[in-house]
Amino acid sequence: MCGIFAYLNYNVARERRYILEVLFNGLRRLEYRGYDSAGIAIDADLRPPVTNEKKSDYGSGEEEMLPPYDSLPPLVFRQEGKIESLVRSVYFEVDAMDLNLEQSFPVHAGIAHTRWATHGVPSPRNSHPQSSDAWNEFLVVHNGIITNYEVLKETLVRHGFTFESETDTEVIPKLAKFVFDKAREEGEQTVTFSQVVTEVMRQLEGAFALIFKSAHYPNELIACTRGSTLILGVKELIDDKIRGKLFHDVKDLTKDEKPKELFFSSDLCAIVEHTKKYLAIEDNEVVHIKDGCVSILKFDYGKEKPASVQRALSVLEMEVEQIKKGNYDHFMQKEIHEQPHSLTTTMRGRLKDNSVVLGGLKEHLKTIRHSRRIIFIGCGTSYNAALAARPLFEELSGIPVTMELASDLQDRQGPIYREDTAVFVSQSGETADTLLALEYALANGALCVGVTNTVGSTLARKTHCGIHINAGCEIGVASTKAYTSQIVAMAMMALAIGADRISTQARRQAIVDDLSNLPYKISEVLKLDGEMRDLAESLIDTQSLLVFGRGYNYATALEGALKVKEVALMHSEGMLAGEMKHGPLALVDETLPIIVIATRDGCFSKQQSVIQQLHARKGRLIVMCSEGDASSVRPVESCKVIEVPQVADCLQPVINIIPLQLLAYHLTVQRGYDVDQPRNLAKSVTTQ
Ligand code: M6R
Repeated sequence: MCGIFAYLNYNVARERRYILEVLFNGLRRLEYRGYDSAGIAIDADLRPPVTNEKKSDYGSGEEEMLPPYDSLPPLVFRQEGKIESLVRSVYFEVDAMDLNLEQSFPVHAGIAHTRWATHGVPSPRNSHPQSSDAWNEFLVVHNGIITNYEVLKETLVRHGFTFESETDTEVIPKLAKFVFDKAREEGEQTVTFSQVVTEVMRQLEGAFALIFKSAHYPNELIACTRGSTLILGVKELIDDKIRGKLFHDVKDLTKDEKPKELFFSSDLCAIVEHTKKYLAIEDNEVVHIKDGCVSILKFDYGKEKPASVQRALSVLEMEVEQIKKGNYDHFMQKEIHEQPHSLTTTMRGRLKDNSVVLGGLKEHLKTIRHSRRIIFIGCGTSYNAALAARPLFEELSGIPVTMELASDLQDRQGPIYREDTAVFVSQSGETADTLLALEYALANGALCVGVTNTVGSTLARKTHCGIHINAGCEIGVASTKAYTSQIVAMAMMALAIGADRISTQARRQAIVDDLSNLPYKISEVLKLDGEMRDLAESLIDTQSLLVFGRGYNYATALEGALKVKEVALMHSEGMLAGEMKHGPLALVDETLPIIVIATRDGCFSKQQSVIQQLHARKGRLIVMCSEGDASSVRPVESCKVIEVPQVADCLQPVINIIPLQLLAYHLTVQRGYDVDQPRNLAKSVTTQ
């Protein structure tokens, strides 16, 4: 899981300093995807092309000193640590090299990368761009994983290549050089950049998004993807309404000389500040930018030559504010407090005349209703969101619902049938475990439904149908607003599936009413912020925290504990309260803090009994209950009680998670840890 970014300016002069800042800024936007090392590649000073005549002179011993192409080698900067440490080191090196930051380039292609280490420790050597050789003939930034890199490496080593890094990525630029050299040796002087990349792609296995820069093809860039999200952003630089037509189509970009800026990015967050016109590049597409024109080739294993394809550009519905912290100290804090708004956008246009309309599912509801089983599949927070929605699905659809952690389903190769509906839940839409499970379910013939926050993501593209949760860009690694929007999106899905049942009409109506009021109730529960800050202060030195929930709020217990462990770096376990007496009770003493979720629902009296049992063993209790219930849940006056607004039982998890998100946030700040980029984690996990 890494972030890749590229910037190409065409027919518009940009200074080196400007180009660097665009690349750094792109990386800053993508930093949440990985932040242990980073790198960029830009062009060196221009120099006159080397003539053939001169080249022959080089035969007398000088060839060692000159690159095998007519320009200076591209400059590559790589650094361990966060983006700012790369920025500092680049400016330091640029200064030391006496490189002119004001030098202007009418055309320039730069690439950039932020890394979450999988193969090899974080170090400059293992950072990207990875290079083909000392002259940087081919440079590559990569997100994803190359599963057959060992075989490729062995072959390349046999052909004389030496490897410097421990990465899987390094085989890619070296393979590109191998393909290029071989074509030249065979007399093909005109081998194109896209021919080289297509041949490389043919050899690669795994899931990847790649951007190539090559000294042999100056001012060109190539990006391609297989199973990993990759976006092309297009910015026009003249008023085309006056001068001609606007770019709506890639076709318009294949033959014009107009000044423009083009971007490649792992996600939309890094391009929204430049342009709203974008294209989600599809699997096996090779997008080539040359002379300011964009061409797309579709790679097909069966065919020798890739076919040229035309695609329409989409318009991004995202505002720049979404990717900025505004007045908040951290993205996680902003995203927690944004939830009244994010939930409003999740529901916007979908609650109509007391019913639910989900455009992406309309055509498939009948098939879902007839399925033998619904399987929810996801990882981490997304799995928890599905778990929270499960009881409502069972109740309104009458269909058995099973839960699968995506990695476990893969490990077991659990049975999936044509009669199943598999619902894949993923904020990013690019989690490798979830995508592999999706491939598996597709291969087994199940109807595959996606629930995602990321338009154009691999999940959105590969599922048969689905719902965009529309929570807006989530940048904090700890998922908060996406979690509540996922639950609400799935609650709406359950309502839509159950809409043909007369017997549940009143129940559905009550849920729809509470959905409409949910943003307001969230604003109310957010007022607990100060109280949760104080609670965090009282827990700051504890080693561990347990959270007990059941029914609708079993998921809340798991998710609350996940938040605490991932950002506050404190051991924390969410447990099913019904299991307490089967083991966990042994842990209870006067020091271990235990949060019991006991809001009003069908499990309330059972949770009251859990509280009594924990109290009898002198447990250090913190109880979450519905407003007005404090006296009926508090075993002793000294017991801390968190009172939350009450809503329909199936929506209560959306309310109940908020105090726990706030608690995790404040614990992290008070313990002095990094809130938005927790240790060892990154936002989307694109490796298994
Ligand atoms: O993008 P996804 O929802 O597929 O990501 C799955 C998990 O990696 C993710 O939910 C993770 O558990 C959260 N970032 C934790 O807050």
